[in-house]
Amino acid sequence: MSATESDAGMSADYVRIFDTTLRDGEQSPGCTMNVEEKVAIAQQLERLNVDIIEAGFAASSPGDFESVRRIAEALTNPTILSLSRTRDEDVDAALRAVERSKRPGIHIFIATSDIHMKYKLNMTREDVLDAATVAVRRAKQHLDYIEFSCEDASRSDWSFMAKVCSEVIRAGARIINLPDTTGHAIPSEYGEMFDYMRAHVEGAEKVIWSAHCHNDLGLAVANSLAAISHGARQVECTLNGIGERAGNTSMEEVVMALKTRRDLMKVDSRVNTRQIYPASRLLAQIIGQPVPANKPIVGDNAFAHEAGIHQDGVLKNKLTYEIMRPEDIGIPSNKLVLGKHSGRHAFVNRLRELGIDPATIDVQKAFAAFKELCDKKKVVYDDDILALANEERRTADAFEIVDLEVGSSSGTEPRARVSLRIEGQTHTAEATGDGMVDACYKAIYRIVGLTPALERYAVKAITGGTDALGEVSCMLRENGMTVAGQGAHSDIVMASALALVNALNRLKARRSSLETRPLGGP
Ligand code: KIV
Ligand code: ZN
Repeated sequence: MSATESDAGMSADYVRIFDTTLRDGEQSPGCTMNVEEKVAIAQQLERLNVDIIEAGFAASSPGDFESVRRIAEALTNPTILSLSRTRDEDVDAALRAVERSKRPGIHIFIATSDIHMKYKLNMTREDVLDAATVAVRRAKQHLDYIEFSCEDASRSDWSFMAKVCSEVIRAGARIINLPDTTGHAIPSEYGEMFDYMRAHVEGAEKVIWSAHCHNDLGLAVANSLAAISHGARQVECTLNGIGERAGNTSMEEVVMALKTRRDLMKVDSRVNTRQIYPASRLLAQIIGQPVPANKPIVGDNAFAHEAGIHQDGVLKNKLTYEIMRPEDIGIPSNKLVLGKHSGRHAFVNRLRELGIDPATIDVQKAFAAFKELCDKKKVVYDDDILALANEERRTADAFEIVDLEVGSSSGTEPRARVSLRIEGQTHTAEATGDGMVDACYKAIYRIVGLTPALERYAVKAITGGTDALGEVSCMLRENGMTVAGQGAHSDIVMASALALVNALNRLKARRSSLETRPLGGP
């Protein structure tokens, strides 16, 4: 395995976009995805033209290993990395997982701050320096594209970190990442750290410097831009800014800041910004976490002008209040798309425009569901189509709803009768409850034999009207593990059942992957 200098674009002056939605992003509560879902996101990231995808942490679980391997096989253009600690078994698992990629790479990290070394690693500075160099040397025997990260860089001693970076560059690292792991940095100091490291590290001019910021103080994007102004040429980020705790640098925000303020920043990314909106919506659908309306770039209100003075200005000239064009982000100007007379061809085309590869879903079933929806609703919107496509991606799940019957009248307790398919067998249970959704949830819990805490339950009409497709998102917690689920249907009780079953499937998958999980996460 090897990647050439030009493969990695080491010499060109642009900002490499390193997407870690599938690794750091997936670590945030309720954001777990199954292999098929991760492949679908990775394919959309390829359409976005990101430079690097961190597909997972291969040694952390068989499920993660499989996701990295599948993504490495499926994609052509981006470099595919696996995260790895400095242990031999981590490095070997990462190398095996990416070996079929056209552009394989590895991302090795170890903490360099005194607090992490003392309390988390129980290692001395010399131990850390040695472990980092040995791991990079080991990986270098098999591939060329090696990124090295000093975890908790922003709280590390700069001169020690410079020593570690000089050694790993000598051992073969080609990208050096300085994470603000705890989201503690302020833009001016984060930028200064890059100046210091670029001035004091031996071989600094041979590598790409990378920023990786967390959003604990709401400064992740600002810190990433400061790093770029001080010489970083790679930003690590996630779609919708998902990630540990308060999240990571939001890809759409950093990419659009570079594009919109090119006059000041002087460099840009190579992202196809028209794929941003489909990517953001696809992720929101898959993880069941809606995009907040006021989220910059992709939120429903990002281009909505409410105040009369603003509306008047925009009608006269959009530039009065709009610094970006919605079409550059891929926001459809007309969300009304298809109706009952639309054919399969138009439906498949629309799926592609929305960033869904028809090969990743059962198009026949999705089209049949679309036709059924057209009979119930006069107009079908983009978000309805995304929801339908997402439902079809769930065929390989452990639990599947076969039938749902609910009943309620004044004076009687609401009741539900649910049938689920589990490993080819149909199981049925009945229950009564405080409402039809409660009764339905009780019947489902009875069948699967699980009673996780329901931490969140929210209903949203995806598009307007009483005939709208209802979208339910829920979050379950069991033994410290949190999973989200989502369901869409024109019947709200059915949408609720789909959301619960979706979350239970994730919980089951997560449990079995943890049963065989040999190592903890970063
Ligand atoms: O935040 C962090 O330090 C990380 C590293 C593993 C790169 O995610
Ligand atoms: Zn991180």
